[in-house]
Formats: sequence, structure tokens, C-alpha cells
Amino acid sequence: MTAVAGTPAAFRAACDDARRRGLRVGLVPTMGALHEGHLSLVDAARARASFVAVTIFVNPLQFAPTDDLDRYPRTFDADLASCAARGVDVVFAPAPDAMYPPGFQTHVAVGDLTEPLEGAFRPGHFDGVTTVVAKLFNLAGPCVACFGRKDYQQQLVLRRMAYDLDLPVEVVSLPIVREPDGLARSSRNRYLSAEERTRACAIVQGLRAAWDAFDGGERDVRALTALCRAPVDAAFDAIDYVATRDPETLAPVDRAQERAALLVAAHLGPTRLIDNVVLGEEPRP
Ligand code: PAJ
Repeated sequence: MTAVAGTPAAFRAACDDARRRGLRVGLVPTMGALHEGHLSLVDAARARASFVAVTIFVNPLQFAPTDDLDRYPRTFDADLASCAARGVDVVFAPAPDAMYPPGFQTHVAVGDLTEPLEGAFRPGHFDGVTTVVAKLFNLAGPCVACFGRKDYQQQLVLRRMAYDLDLPVEVVSLPIVREPDGLARSSRNRYLSAEERTRACAIVQGLRAAWDAFDGGERDVRALTALCRAPVDAAFDAIDYVATRDPETLAPVDRAQERAALLVAAHLGPTRLIDNVVLGEEPRP
């Protein structure tokens, strides 16, 4: 049976109670509209913990006024059924007011890691993410928290936050789950028309071209980035970035070392998609 906690106090009590019973808490923070990417994190949490908590909260703090907060998909009943089918112990689904009551005025901000890439194109986004996840970590208490590498910069930022603030949370990052044709699973894929859905594959085609070139010995970052960029340029309406970076610091590099992160953000009509690969690391996208 999957319990539902609607308030921060009820969620904290459920996690405290699990620990009192000797269970290890595994936490999977999400914004709902759950798909196999999210559910792979549930399985990863289950493999590492004996009490699995999923949080479902479309966090207004991490959306800019021009973002898709209002049209972000909300599919709570289906999400709860998916969680129950995967053996989730508790779903925390608070109302916005319960997380941010009137007078709320405290924020958590991580430094340099949040500046490039997503940080540059979505000002304030990471402060919203770190603030809500700090609250979720604090409510869950000591736990292992599972995040997807789909949001590559986000998992680096959250790992940094937990370390810097001595939070009693082990942050684990899991591989990207893709559709059979390679498109990274995303709640936003449902916005795509059939024609856009076909064009969306240009990102994974670019990532594969770069991954294969790296595998073949190419280490020049301009060449690797250009290989990825070409199909995205041809198929997408606008590109925010295609960038090859140090996989830990996200600092620019001229030559790739043993590993390098190649990250993409681009627009198809009103929909913004992100994806990435770590060159030099399995799996090939
Ligand atoms: P959301 O976009 O719902 O994603 C929740 C988690 O699922 C994140 O860790 C994300 O990286 C992971 N995820 C999404 N698609 C994935 C895929 N195709 N393969 C593997 N993992 C995938 O990320 C957020 O929510 C929010 O920013 C949140 C951390 C919940 C804070 O509000």
C-alpha cells in the first residue's frame, strides 16, 4: 500500500517512523507526470533502501514567469498508480502553500556550478531547485536520494549542496532512460507534435556522432561539439547551447580528457528539450 502524505509534517513523520523501524529511507524527488525515467529512479532507490519515498511537487520557485508552470502536466492519479505498482511506500504531494506559506523568504543558492548552461539560460532556476530540494532533504531526514543524469547540471548542483551543507543525504545519479529511438524520456515530450517528435531525435543523433568520434580517438572539443551541433542546427528552431565541458566542474575545456560532458538545450516550437552524454563513458546514447 502506498501512503499519501499531503503535508510536510505528515511526510516527516512517515520518514521518521520508517527509520525508527530500522528502515533506510530512499528518496526520489519529482514534479510528477511520471514516466520510465522517474520510475528507474524508484527502482534504484528500492535497490539501496528499504523504505521508498517519492515526492511529487511542481515547484513554482524553479519556473520563470515565461516558463511552462501553468501548462506543466499534472497527472496525479496515474502517478500514484505507477508508484503503487513499483512498491513505493509513501508519496509526498504537498500543495504549493504547504511548501511556501505566506511570508516564506529563505533560499538556498549554490555558487559557480549554477552559473553556466542552464543557469545562464534560466536565471533563478537553480535557486528554486536547491531551495525545494533542501526542504525535501530536511523533511526526509537521513536518506539516499536518487536523481537522473538527464538533468546533468542539476545532479552536480544537488550533490554539491548536500556536501557543502553537511546534509545527511547520499546523492546518487542514475543513467538517462531513453525511448527506443533514443529520445530521452521527459515529461515535456508530450508537448511535441508528431512532426516535432521526429525532429527531436536530432539531439540524440548529434550526441551519438560525438560519442562515436570520441570513441574513435577524437579529443578536440571544437570538433566534437560541431559534430553534435550539426543535426540539432538542422532540425531545431533555436539552440540555447551545445557545449562540451569538464564533467565535474562544467568549466570549458579545449581538449577532452578521459571523460567530457556534452550537453544540449534546444527549442522545438514552444518546447525546450535538454539532453547530454558523458563522452568516454558507457552507455552510448
Ligand atoms: P523532474 O523533471 O520531474 O525529474 C525528477 C527526476 O527524474 C530528476 O532527477 C530527473 O533527472 C529524473 N529524470 C527525468 N527524466 C529522466 C530520464 N529520461 N532518465 C533518467 N532520469 C530522469 O528534476 C526535477 O523534476 C526537479 O527539478 C526536482 C529535482 C524534483 C526539484 O523540483
